[in-house]
Amino acid sequence: MKFFVDTADVDEIRKLNDLGLLDGVTTNPSLILKSGRDITEVTKEICDLVDGPVSAEVTATDYDGMMSEAAVLGKIADNICIKVPLTPDGLKACKALTSNGKQVNVTLCFSANQALLAAKAGATFISPFIGRLDDIGIDGMELIEEIRTIYDNYDFKTEILAASIRTVNHVKEAAMIGADVATVPPATLHALFKHPLTDKGLEAFLADWAKTGQKIA
Ligand code: E4P
Repeated sequence: MKFFVDTADVDEIRKLNDLGLLDGVTTNPSLILKSGRDITEVTKEICDLVDGPVSAEVTATDYDGMMSEAAVLGKIADNICIKVPLTPDGLKACKALTSNGKQVNVTLCFSANQALLAAKAGATFISPFIGRLDDIGIDGMELIEEIRTIYDNYDFKTEILAASIRTVNHVKEAAMIGADVATVPPATLHALFKHPLTDKGLEAFLADWAKTGQKIA
């Protein structure tokens, strides 16, 4: 499973990238707002840091507007992945962009039929939003399962990018179902490392090691 980080915070991205576990980054207009940065500047910095796809979202809602914003965003770096909403115009833009060799992430997916349409439009990634479905009492993980089945039935190459992840269990369950990618907020990515028995075990080993008086050198 690939790990993307869901943030436009460059310091967080740098830290996670230094660990060698980062395969890409996703941003959206809300995350750009949170960063307080100019979209072009911050996206360029992120693209320079990370080798994998960096999703940058269009904000126009009509096909022509999306295509002209995609042209601007696409010039930022070679690893830009254009993010478009799951609307008829968004999927039309997806088809045009992927036909021209661009990577496209179709966002705001809340149903298996929407994911089917995105795959038919040639999307590189489909982003089903797990947490936002859970928020309204619908099991977001069931959607990941349904999309996995449909994509496997027809051998669609579109990658399932589990989005709107809120917990470490979301990551585990998405991985068990076979989502190709999880885009995870920084705090949740850090939390994946943690287990109280790891901390306790390490403490005991270090205490015993100190008693041996030895050094590995
Ligand atoms: C990712 O591409 C999405 O923009 C993001 O995961 C949305 O997450 P949220 O529902 O926590 O805002």
